[in-house]
Amino acid sequence: MKHWDQFLAPYKQAINELKVKLKGMRGQFELDSSHSPIEFVTGRVKPIASILDKANQKGIPLDKLEEEMQDIAGMRIMCQFVEDIHRVVELLRNRNDFEIVEERDYISHEKTSGYRSYHVVIRYPVQTIHGEKKILAEIQIRTLAMNFWATIEHSLNYKYKGAFPADIRMRLQRAAEAAFRLDKEMSLIRGEIKEAQAFFSRKKELTQEENN
Ligand code: GTP
Ligand code: MG
Repeated sequence: MKHWDQFLAPYKQAINELKVKLKGMRGQFELDSSHSPIEFVTGRVKPIASILDKANQKGIPLDKLEEEMQDIAGMRIMCQFVEDIHRVVELLRNRNDFEIVEERDYISHEKTSGYRSYHVVIRYPVQTIHGEKKILAEIQIRTLAMNFWATIEHSLNYKYKGAFPADIRMRLQRAAEAAFRLDKEMSLIRGEIKEAQAFFSRKKELTQEENN
């Protein structure tokens, strides 16, 4: 549909640009040979069917989508350690190419489902042939363990349409706690892990130099 293509075009543009920019941050840490707080980055534009479902569920009129649906453009930044999440948030706050509209800390205040992540909503300016257009985008920042849990829970959500049987709900809550304990354990040996990773990336660089 032409109307949807036009509506979604700036969101697609924003996602493409943000992928380059956020992946670029990872590259810069590699150049510095310092631990990157960013492990990998993904991004997507919400499919039309999901936009319609959510608008329906939340009672958002379709002519209010721009202001009231914050995650039509969605980015995810995965980190190795919980500490990295806070560094990433700081890096985002210091940027000049978008404005932070809202932050939601579901790490200190996890959702009852067990969901943990740090959400940052930004207003991002897209340059179009008709001038500048500012769109909202949601950046979710989480550890690899939090991402593992959220991905599994999301697919189960599809299966049960959000209405989990009590035992599954409880298992998921326990799995979320286990994932959080894993993050805490990893944080405790973070120094050791970072040293080993720095050693291996240096070794890789040296063998590459030898091969050149
Ligand atoms: P939405 O109306 O869906 O935006 O919920 P919200 O405004 O109450 O919460 P928020 O915007 O902070 O989080 C919404 C997004 O976070 C969702 O689109 C998911 O990507 C993610 N999320 C939030 N809660 C859960 C959860 O329980 N499980 C999973 N897997 N993801 C979640
Ligand atoms: Mg939301």
